[in-house]
Amino acid sequence: MSERKVPTGRYLVTGGAGFIGSHLCEKLLQSGSQVVAVDNLITGNLRNLKNFENNPKFELIRQDITGRLEILGNFDGIFHLASPASPVDYAEFPIETLRVGSYGSEHVLEMAKKSKCRVLVASTSEIYGDPQQHPQKESYWGNVNSIGPRSCYDESKRFLEALTMAYHRVFGLQTRIIRIFNTYGPRMRENDGRVVPNFCMQALRGESITIYGEGKQTRSFCYVSDLVEGILATFLGDSHLPINLGNPTEFTIADFAKKIIALTGSRSELVHKPLPEDDPQLRCPDITKARTELNWEPKVPIDEGLAKTIEYFRQLV
Ligand SMILES: NC(=O)c1ccc[n+]([C@@H]2O[C@H](COP(=O)([O-])OP(=O)(O)OC[C@H]3O[C@@H](n4cnc5c(N)ncnc54)[C@H](O)[C@@H]3O)[C@@H](O)[C@H]2O)c1
Repeated sequence: MSERKVPTGRYLVTGGAGFIGSHLCEKLLQSGSQVVAVDNLITGNLRNLKNFENNPKFELIRQDITGRLEILGNFDGIFHLASPASPVDYAEFPIETLRVGSYGSEHVLEMAKKSKCRVLVASTSEIYGDPQQHPQKESYWGNVNSIGPRSCYDESKRFLEALTMAYHRVFGLQTRIIRIFNTYGPRMRENDGRVVPNFCMQALRGESITIYGEGKQTRSFCYVSDLVEGILATFLGDSHLPINLGNPTEFTIADFAKKIIALTGSRSELVHKPLPEDDPQLRCPDITKARTELNWEPKVPIDEGLAKTIEYFRQLV
């Protein structure tokens, strides 16, 4: 599996100052492309752009994409990643989350139509809800609570997928849809409430590590460089239908916490708290489609990815 390279050109990345978006911008710049990132910094951070903010081929436009998208010129490709993404973030910004998935996505798809370029949109494993099929294949329709605490995110992303398919069917737009499963790595926000930053920060501070429920729920974690390869592979691939990108290796939350304690050399202990409402018990991608159609699968071993991530969080303690 060799590294994917999109043709050199001018690319738009929405949510480019976020965790995944900033890694994608960096990768596109490394292959000589011009990159315009648009971000309103609602959950992103300028710190994420430090490695490449002075690159003359990079431009950041601070703009809310739910308003009019005022970006000059055409693009050779668009990657639409803008959206609050962690449960803490979308609980704080439920309306903004629904707006960016709907109005924001429409503006981005219109821009792709105007540029006559391919557009890749970031959906999520959350569209499967609390799945009754395990692991989840792309053909599974999901088990989603339309009014629960996660619904602002789940439904915003389901709408994003529906709108993207409609643009493909009505206008023949070249669209790509990825369903991202838990991804981790440097530049995650230390307080975004997700498992990896939570456990790393608690372990590095020597605080107790919080486990919701008994810790038997499983999660799988994909390192960000693997995900970026998957994004490029999907963008370059032939299918307009959704594709799962994630790492199928599962850990129970309790085992994962113990791994982080070991890797940080911490003396933290585990404490248990009640499970939040609608917390999925099992979450694991079936990536057969990505393997067969894109020749993509994650490569970075968990200990290696976590070591880099812990190094990053160490600077923030
Ligand atoms: N990280 C994961 O594990 C994961 C899993 C599934 C899906 N995703 C999807 O991947 C994408 C990126 O996620 P992330 O983890 O990098 O999150 P992130 O919060 O770090 O990045 C999202 C970026 O979008 C920006 N943004 C949000 N609303 C905006 C708006 N209206 N206008 C302009 N910019 C806006 C934010 O400021 C932020 O920089 C999201 O669409 C998310 O739903 C991520």
